[in-house]
Amino acid sequence: MDCIQNITPDIYWVGGSDRRLALFENMFPLDNGVTYNAYVILDEKTALIDTVDDAIRQQFFENLHAALGERPLDYLVINHMEPDHCAHIADICRMWPGVKIVGNPKTFQMIRQFYDMDLEGHTLEVKEGDELSLGRHNLRFYMAPMVHWPEVMLTCETTEGILFSADAFGTFGGFTGNLFSDEVDYQAVYMDEFRRYYTNIVGKYGPQVLAALNKLSCENISMICPLHGPVLRGGDIPAVMGKYTRWASYRPEKQGVVLAYASMYGNTEAVVHRLAGLLSQKGVGDLRMYDVSKTHYSHIIARAFEYSHLVLASPTYNMHLYMAMDLLVSDMANLNLKNRGVAIIGNGSWSPAAHTILQKKVEEMKNMNLVAEPLVIRSAMKPGQEAELEDMAEKLAVSVKQGDL
Ligand code: FEO
Repeated sequence: MDCIQNITPDIYWVGGSDRRLALFENMFPLDNGVTYNAYVILDEKTALIDTVDDAIRQQFFENLHAALGERPLDYLVINHMEPDHCAHIADICRMWPGVKIVGNPKTFQMIRQFYDMDLEGHTLEVKEGDELSLGRHNLRFYMAPMVHWPEVMLTCETTEGILFSADAFGTFGGFTGNLFSDEVDYQAVYMDEFRRYYTNIVGKYGPQVLAALNKLSCENISMICPLHGPVLRGGDIPAVMGKYTRWASYRPEKQGVVLAYASMYGNTEAVVHRLAGLLSQKGVGDLRMYDVSKTHYSHIIARAFEYSHLVLASPTYNMHLYMAMDLLVSDMANLNLKNRGVAIIGNGSWSPAAHTILQKKVEEMKNMNLVAEPLVIRSAMKPGQEAELEDMAEKLAVSVKQGDL
């Protein structure tokens, strides 16, 4: 049974959802699945914008045939070659032998890398600013390398101002039935997953995201159709553009503290709890606390992009960091997180090393301000260290309230 929906009278959403998938990219936990979006434009010529993941193959083809009816498919635009969007290129070429695949040179290079298929007679190569008329609808192509892969391009339907944005502006979360963002409380339903998707999937490529946003500023966009999540329209368009501009600039959304700790027997955890209490007493009203062994790092990464300050606390393990903390901090560095205030707590029962390793890793990141000397505890914090912790809390609180990051 098809589940197509109209975006406009002659543009259809032909995607679907996978709520059985546990880990997106085999890494990121999905509590509520993910959508894979694809879109059909019916005009003098017909066009399909992207395909979907193999997991929803049957739903996709039922949708595609329902949208096209008896008409042949003239164009398949490939905005992104990650397999969650391009699993059915060969099938489509078999079903509609006259179809032209629209892509840039890197698109075709990647098709050849992923698939053993003969592209002869099936390619229409485009470059920055090229246009393709379907009749009343006109497509303009923008290259957007590294938003999220090097071959990514964005397709703007210029007659109605509809941006087909590839991974940009996508979110985790399965289809709810409401296709449009303004049919749901987007902030409540999607914003946390929208942030988690951006920061973990695209977060490394802030300058490239800003370059793409800059290119799009000349278009009058009425709708954004991403490859994951709801179609954005109305006030949600400037809202998500604003979020992207902030995240891509690595500027926090909020003044507040994310406290991320590793703790084997509760002693490091107890210090973090004590610090959080002191921060609260000093008027810091927005604290988020995570045990890195319990919360997947992708959630903590999203909060680290959201908040202005970080507390990182870890035991020493095999003369190195506790592994879950090592993973979190390494990923922060890999995603180019910067411009944060940081405080560090290290624990070690015979030869504490966690604090120096954490400090080195943080100092290797750009514009990370260590607001206080690292606090080193041996097995458990002793009453004599209370003043040191109080000093750390005071410096953190002052920095948060100054809002100077
Ligand atoms: Fe949804 Fe980069 O693929």
